[in-house]
Amino acid sequence: MNKVLQGKTVVITAGPTYEDMDPVRFLGNRSSGRMGFAVAQAAADAGADTTLVAGPCQQECPTVTQRINVRSALEMREQVMLHIDDCDIFIGCAAVADYRPAETSETKIKKDGGDLTLRLIQNPDILAGVAALPNRPFTVGFAAETNDIEKHALRKLRNKNLHMIAANQVGNGRGFDCNDNALLLLYPDGRQQSLPCQAKCSLACRLVDEIAAEYKRLQQQHT
Ligand code: C5P
Repeated sequence: MNKVLQGKTVVITAGPTYEDMDPVRFLGNRSSGRMGFAVAQAAADAGADTTLVAGPCQQECPTVTQRINVRSALEMREQVMLHIDDCDIFIGCAAVADYRPAETSETKIKKDGGDLTLRLIQNPDILAGVAALPNRPFTVGFAAETNDIEKHALRKLRNKNLHMIAANQVGNGRGFDCNDNALLLLYPDGRQQSLPCQAKCSLACRLVDEIAAEYKRLQQQHT
């Protein structure tokens, strides 16, 4: 792979987050971490100093500069913010839980014969938080959608103030927990690009090439 990110520092989130209810139960999601790990490997292969902040997942570890394991969204945000200062490019691939239980019980919750109501509170949006930093890096998000991909992804691109968003279809065996994927890349000026369905590792290389090209284009505009 061409060293298109040589000398650049990249931080990537990947995998799901687990939000604990008690010592044995948690709220999670079906993200395998495969796409994020493939993007981390592609960024490292492209020459970037790459920090992978990974939620709980079983993927083989990519050969990155460092991997930091986290469990919850709050832990993920803490580690991202600790490593974001000198970062040139941030890529949010993780399927961060939108909500966490309002309370985490220190002991196993017992059934008492009736229904149980679980109160959830919102997690912070890590990606939007990075994009709102005064000295923000080039910020790339993902949008996994079951329907109206372009419409929902465009809204996220704008609302979270991103430089680029990679949208993909999930559900019915697509997206999560499979080897192939396709991406639709959207940019704030209305440009779009489709990366056709292919193995996640080759798709990740294409994505990293596009990220590097767009990053350099914006750098040149500002010089
Ligand atoms: O809003 P939605 O969750 O669909 O946005 C997906 C994008 O935002 C992904 O890039 C994901 O990593 C990021 N995200 C985040 N923190 C959250 C929720 C989503 O970084 N709490």
